Amino acid sequence: MDHSVQTVLSMKGIVKRYPGVVALEGVDLDVRRGEVHVLLGENGAGKSTLVKILAGAVRRDAGTLEIEGRAYELSTPREAQTAGVSVIYQEFNLVPGLTVAENIFLGREPRGFLPGFIDQALLVSEAERILHGLGVVIDPRSVVRSLGVAEQQMVEVAKALSVDARIVVMDEPTSALTEREIGRLFMVIRRLRERGVAIIYISHRLDELFQIGDRVTVLRDGRLIGTRVIAESTRAGLIRMMVGRDLTEQFPPRGATVGEEVLRVEGLTRRGVLDGISFVLHRGEVLGLTGLMGAGRTELARALFGADPIDAGRVWVRGSEVVIRSPQHAIRLGLGFLTEDRKRQGLVLGCSVTENICLASLDRFSRGGVMQAGNERAEASRLASELRVKTPSLGERVLNLSGGNQQKVVLGKWLCRSAEILLFDEPTRGIDVGAKAEVYQLIRRLSAAGKAILIISSELPEILGLSDRILVMSRGRLSGMFGAAEATPEAILRCALGADAA
Ligand SMILES: Nc1ncnc2c1ncn2[C@@H]1O[C@H](COP(=O)(O)OP(=O)(O)OP(=O)(O)O)[C@@H](O)[C@H]1O
Ligand SMILES: [Mg+2]
Repeated sequence: MDHSVQTVLSMKGIVKRYPGVVALEGVDLDVRRGEVHVLLGENGAGKSTLVKILAGAVRRDAGTLEIEGRAYELSTPREAQTAGVSVIYQEFNLVPGLTVAENIFLGREPRGFLPGFIDQALLVSEAERILHGLGVVIDPRSVVRSLGVAEQQMVEVAKALSVDARIVVMDEPTSALTEREIGRLFMVIRRLRERGVAIIYISHRLDELFQIGDRVTVLRDGRLIGTRVIAESTRAGLIRMMVGRDLTEQFPPRGATVGEEVLRVEGLTRRGVLDGISFVLHRGEVLGLTGLMGAGRTELARALFGADPIDAGRVWVRGSEVVIRSPQHAIRLGLGFLTEDRKRQGLVLGCSVTENICLASLDRFSRGGVMQAGNERAEASRLASELRVKTPSLGERVLNLSGGNQQKVVLGKWLCRSAEILLFDEPTRGIDVGAKAEVYQLIRRLSAAGKAILIISSELPEILGLSDRILVMSRGRLSGMFGAAEATPEAILRCALGADAA
């Protein structure tokens, strides 16, 4: 069956303004049956706003919207759902205490014989049918709270199918998934596509779009730049459309010298999580830490930062042995930790950009207990412009920033604090290509200024391009260490799989 030319969604002249920002300025989008349509653009370009309008979560100021030839207002999420639109957000909308089946049919449960009673058996068998059709093995009776991120995402997809969605939107669906889980998600996407469902897909990972996408629409600063067939596009061409100039995806040169040891870890162990980890980190060094998701990388950073207790092991900071009991203690010792979960651990969403950037370094801006607001603002504005944070003003609440711009604020926060040993966990997650290059430059500048940096990343090119040395973890253990010159993707992957292969 050929669905390829049947337009299912047509948005025209969409406008959305916020105080001080035009999020969308006359954007057109047309999406066909059975295609994966990618939305591409820098942080703050308007991608999420466009899909929120489609989801009935945000009201547009102007423009028209048609689904299968019929005009819709879509002023509520309910109306969007009835029109056949299903959105899978990054923060899932599942009820943790309910079962998989209950979540899939929430609000639309099949009734039992007695009025008011839900037919559980029917619920479970229906859920099973849908999950089976997706090719995923999840027990419909299990409680959602007990599932991993990838499984929860599959439940969201199943939910979308149970309402017979014609358009499924996925906003950065892979940012919390492992390679294997991404493979499974792509399989499910292909199945949806075969059934004629239209998929709108947002991601900052360009590799993915070439793997899964059919067409791509590029936005820049709220404007439509163009729609292209992906098979006829190049990476460089799409980047140019996105950022408006040529951009070399290059890593800054490595530092010439690595200084003395500032951190030494021996036999660090946390039962069931970390097993006898030993390494050293030097002034001016960028040490990459990679491995598959679940290998214990974040756990290692948390243990070092005093966020989780350890069962054994010794740590030296600048030559003196220390027992880091809390994050406050770690900060006093000169450690900084950029967490992977920015929403929960990194930001105060209701506070301004300036306040967030200066949050971890209040001591820097107070003189005898008096805050020096001027200094604070100057520093925040310098960092915000270096990181190209897109915001109407530094007084804007972080809540109103786009996802990637929030991440930049978290980065700014730790750059502002004059920590000597920086632990960066997935610092470029959700950050667009242009800003990624800036972040790499900044990290190099920090190391040139004598900081010692441990960077955790799942993106192998990033680890290879940025690190002086590379550590690989597998199942809580260090399974390999490489100098920049000898590291290859194959060798690292072999180590990352280490425990499995053995
Ligand atoms: N509720 C809001 N109040 C004020 N401004 C907002 C609000 N929501 C979005 N914006 C602004 O609208 C613009 C577009 O944001 P949007 O979230 O659509 O970007 P995006 O393309 O999804 O970016 P990212 O890749 O970082 O997720 C940004 O400048 C953002 O700050
Ligand atoms: Mg977004």
